[in-house]
Amino acid sequence: MLDTKVKELLNTQVNKEFYSAYLYLDFSNYYADQGLEGFANWYKVQAQEERDHAMLFMQYLQNNGCKVTLEAIEKPGKEFASFSDPLKAGYEHEQYVTGLIHAIYGAANEAKDFRTMQFLDWFVKEQGEEETNAEGLIKKFELFGSDPRALYMLDSELAARVYSAPSLVL
Ligand code: FEO
Repeated sequence: MLDTKVKELLNTQVNKEFYSAYLYLDFSNYYADQGLEGFANWYKVQAQEERDHAMLFMQYLQNNGCKVTLEAIEKPGKEFASFSDPLKAGYEHEQYVTGLIHAIYGAANEAKDFRTMQFLDWFVKEQGEEETNAEGLIKKFELFGSDPRALYMLDSELAARVYSAPSLVL
């Protein structure tokens, strides 16, 4: 059995990951509405990844004989004043999620729960990549976003992102 606090944090993370998927779908819808289909695609794929993360946390809990409780998912619904707003909000959100993952890791470490620490190693690495990607998008937008032709190219680049299943298998 897992430590009670670790178990609670893992269960909360299921909700946080589903919320991340919801948030990124909201970004995707915003861009689709603005005619930036590539940006919309990029966040739709990101939402699929977040759903996968939620499923992995759920599966891990179940593999360890823990009951999963699904809570209500918060409404995203932020208003965006410019194309760069979701990019910035996405980066901040990933930093927040990194903090959550690290907090679970810390609790697992305290409980000497080496199994959970090993499970979380994949997420620690994943968060590093997600922060880099999110920050990279902001940088690209700052460089090219104000020129319509460059924005068109950037949108085309983001349209090429395809979903692939997570490398972590439980
Ligand atoms: Fe599942 Fe983007 O963190």
